[in-house]
Amino acid sequence: MVRLDDQHVHSFLDDGALEDLQPQVADAHEAVLNKTGTSSDMLGWRDLLLNPDDALLEDIQATADRLRRDADVLLCLGIGGSYLGARAVISALTPYLASRSAESSPADAPKGQSANPSQPPEVRFAGHHTSGAYLQELLDDLEGQSVFVNVISKSGTTLETALSFRVVREWMDDQFDDPSDRTIITTDKEQGALNALHEAHDFYKKYVIPDDVGGRFSVMTPVGLLPIAAAGIDIHSFFYGAVSACEEISSTEEHDALRYAALRYLLLNDGYDVEALAVLEPKLLDIGRWWQQLFGESEGKDGTGLFPTVAQYTTDLHSIGQYMQQGQRNLIETFLMPEDDPGDLDIPETANDVDGLNYVAGKKMADVTHAAYDGTAQAHADGGVPNVTIWFDEIAPEPIGELLYFFEHAVAVSGYLLDVNPFNQPGVEDYKNEMYERLGR
Ligand code: PA5
Repeated sequence: MVRLDDQHVHSFLDDGALEDLQPQVADAHEAVLNKTGTSSDMLGWRDLLLNPDDALLEDIQATADRLRRDADVLLCLGIGGSYLGARAVISALTPYLASRSAESSPADAPKGQSANPSQPPEVRFAGHHTSGAYLQELLDDLEGQSVFVNVISKSGTTLETALSFRVVREWMDDQFDDPSDRTIITTDKEQGALNALHEAHDFYKKYVIPDDVGGRFSVMTPVGLLPIAAAGIDIHSFFYGAVSACEEISSTEEHDALRYAALRYLLLNDGYDVEALAVLEPKLLDIGRWWQQLFGESEGKDGTGLFPTVAQYTTDLHSIGQYMQQGQRNLIETFLMPEDDPGDLDIPETANDVDGLNYVAGKKMADVTHAAYDGTAQAHADGGVPNVTIWFDEIAPEPIGELLYFFEHAVAVSGYLLDVNPFNQPGVEDYKNEMYERLGR
């Protein structure tokens, strides 16, 4: 269950503003549900939850099982919506120090086989920038390991991803006897260069990104699900978490996802044009980055939209905390909090209390986190930053699935409230065209 706490917003809004907006919110919500809004042919991310394809989930799991047996590393190549969702979920749901406690070292394993077949492969990412140094160092680091590649690109033409794939293909050809059998593509059903390469090389597997699902809404397709399953995460629970949120939100006219959209809209109209998503659990930072793309690309057009940024507290309270408290008053803040904090480390008591910390002895680190959250939310509200908190049950596959759908639905409604097309990103083409021109395409 995802829940919105908006106690630190009310004093910033005119009396009755939320109620007055309700008919517009209801219309936007109806337009999403009934596919009557702009680009309603891009609402496939809802259809795939309303009509789950269990056979596809099983197929993805079977591929993940093979990767567990045969791969030390799954190298995912993709950018934007073709990698942020997988990275967000994997960061949230795998241990900080994921030691693949070696049953044997890669050097002991037969060439091309996993050294640790009972453990999921490490999922690594490339193809999301143009750094040659990164790619070189990454490939050097992968030397001697059993590597599989999942290249993810709906268009198949995105330069960052396509170039990385070219370099990685050459490297795979040098490293392995069976490079094509180690390559999985996730792309359009027939268009684009990846399909042409598949024709030529007959890769191990191809997954299709549905036409009616845009990149930033694709985490519940093979774009997100295969890397997530490969990392050893229960995709059935994750996917069905999103299904339950979709069903819940679709069956009501009042939901916290709609309220979140409405509050942001009202605050934007009042001149608050920057939104910081703040997490206190560092594992959630990449969910913030996924959220940033989802909201930034969906809303930021036609001269409107809140600029989305991400903060990790309390770390960033020692960098941007001063600004948040006393800088320009155009900021709103959204805290993202699990009800059940995983940080149950006990704080020990010491006999002499030389460091003066016995006042917190006997508490848990989670108590400190909670005090930091609660205190920051209050201080920032007092300092003129309206803030809300989105609570979800715990950092586990099902609640994370619910949470991601909550945001997807909220941004669709929000886009319609703003009267923009939430499902396109025409502005992204401009940098590409300038870059291509300089490269002589
Ligand atoms: O949300 C989007 O549509 C974009 O962020 C794309 O995912 C991103 O540009 C990558 O595109 P592609 O999957 O075609 O390589």
